[in-house]
Amino acid sequence: MESGSKVTFQLILAVGVAVIGSLQFGYNTGVINAPQKVIQKFYNETWIYRYEESISDSTLTTLWSLSVAIFSVGGMIGSFSVGLFVNRFGRRNSMLMVNILAFLAALLMGFSKLAYSFEMLIIGRFVIGLYCGLTTGFVPMYVGEVAPTALRGALGTLHQLGIVIGILIAQVFGLDSIMGNDSMWPYLLSFIVFPAVLQVVALPFCPESPRFLLINRNEENRAKNILRKLRGTTDVSSDLQEMKEESQQMMREKKVTILELFRSPLYRQPIIIAIILQLSQQLSGINAIFYYSTQIFEKAGVAQPVYATIGAGVVNTAFTIVSLFVVERAGRRTLHLIGLIGMAFCAVFMTIALVLLEQLNWMSYISIIAIFGFVAFFEIGPGPIPWFIVAELFSQGPRPSAIAVAGFSNWTSNFIVGMCFQYVEKLCGPYVFIIFFVLLIFFFIFTYFKVPETKGRTFDEIASGFRQGGAGQMDKQMALDEVVSLGTGADSPV
Ligand SMILES: *[C@@H]1O[C@H](CO)[C@@H](O)[C@H](O)[C@H]1NC(C)=O
Repeated sequence: MESGSKVTFQLILAVGVAVIGSLQFGYNTGVINAPQKVIQKFYNETWIYRYEESISDSTLTTLWSLSVAIFSVGGMIGSFSVGLFVNRFGRRNSMLMVNILAFLAALLMGFSKLAYSFEMLIIGRFVIGLYCGLTTGFVPMYVGEVAPTALRGALGTLHQLGIVIGILIAQVFGLDSIMGNDSMWPYLLSFIVFPAVLQVVALPFCPESPRFLLINRNEENRAKNILRKLRGTTDVSSDLQEMKEESQQMMREKKVTILELFRSPLYRQPIIIAIILQLSQQLSGINAIFYYSTQIFEKAGVAQPVYATIGAGVVNTAFTIVSLFVVERAGRRTLHLIGLIGMAFCAVFMTIALVLLEQLNWMSYISIIAIFGFVAFFEIGPGPIPWFIVAELFSQGPRPSAIAVAGFSNWTSNFIVGMCFQYVEKLCGPYVFIIFFVLLIFFFIFTYFKVPETKGRTFDEIASGFRQGGAGQMDKQMALDEVVSLGTGADSPV
């Protein structure tokens, strides 16, 4: 029985190659931050070359916001298309195929300067967004399906870690002494070809998901052979048995469509919670930091804004690792509340720093601390928790639809922040973070009153909590339910 959690070479290879996709997502989230000025200069030069006049401030803001935010439009479409790929072509082949998008995006962005075309850069950002939307669906699914049950949680966290490390790499490469300068920025943006080549070369040596082969394709022998290599043992009957049980359970529970999610009173409250939690992640303002921190630090009078941005990336990575250890043990709801209120306080400090900057020079240090704190609290709560809770609020039947709706809300709000931040900042000046403060407090209040604790509870218990109404009643109700289900011996889905 011990053999089930052995770490084999096949397993390391499969997981290692898959999380290249997570790195790509992080890289493209962070890459647009540091070189903002040099690329904007290129937009201006291109404008002068074409129209013989320099670009207006408002046009530049629009074009830049679009270049940043169109990534999320691609991501939204991509995340909706995950199902089309994984069930038809398999998990591994889907990951292989979508690298075409990475190559295409690299070409478009890499040659935009030579071609005097910011349109190519914008389209390239859209294409790589598509890739990232698809990949962030593929990777957790594939990793979850090749990993043995005992290691599933631990290996699953590598996706999150891959993302933050990708952001950090992009920030370091974006230094002007490396690739964030006039001549090198096209290489910075098209650097994505290297991980793509690596993945294309290595994926054929990785196994297809045994779960896909067994459940979707009914190819038991192939599934068995792959499982033997992955587990490093000949006896894989318990793995096969587990998958078969899971598939039977899936068949027993009817699939719930997106429309039914909103219509049925059974799902309405959980789906609203799922959506608002996703909004709390994106509208917390975190991507204002990942997309625009260099610009923010510059306005806050920081001498070397790019290094402060890299510092934020380091804090982000460190606290992601911290949260990996905490998240399984502490309650989801508690962590989310701590994260939100911490971010709200940091938003206030940030505002104070920006307002008092004129009188007090050292306020620029406060702004650095405020942003580091902002990022750290994000990774404690609003970063990881919304995805956790969505998966835990819904059982097998409604889960795919719920995750699709959550993904849509996430990318849409990501787009809104990327697109609007620069405008709002122009409008509000130093008070821009007050908006995030207000939103964060709203999300805190909502979470406090409406979001139930999901850790260690079955779907039945959570659902009956909703029938009683409100999160406050959950605890009493849960204790009651436990007594009842003990008495009847009812089997609850995991
Ligand atoms: C565009 O470039 C011209 C010439 O270098 C410069 O005078 C102008 O300020 C620039 N415009 C913007 C919006 O950066």
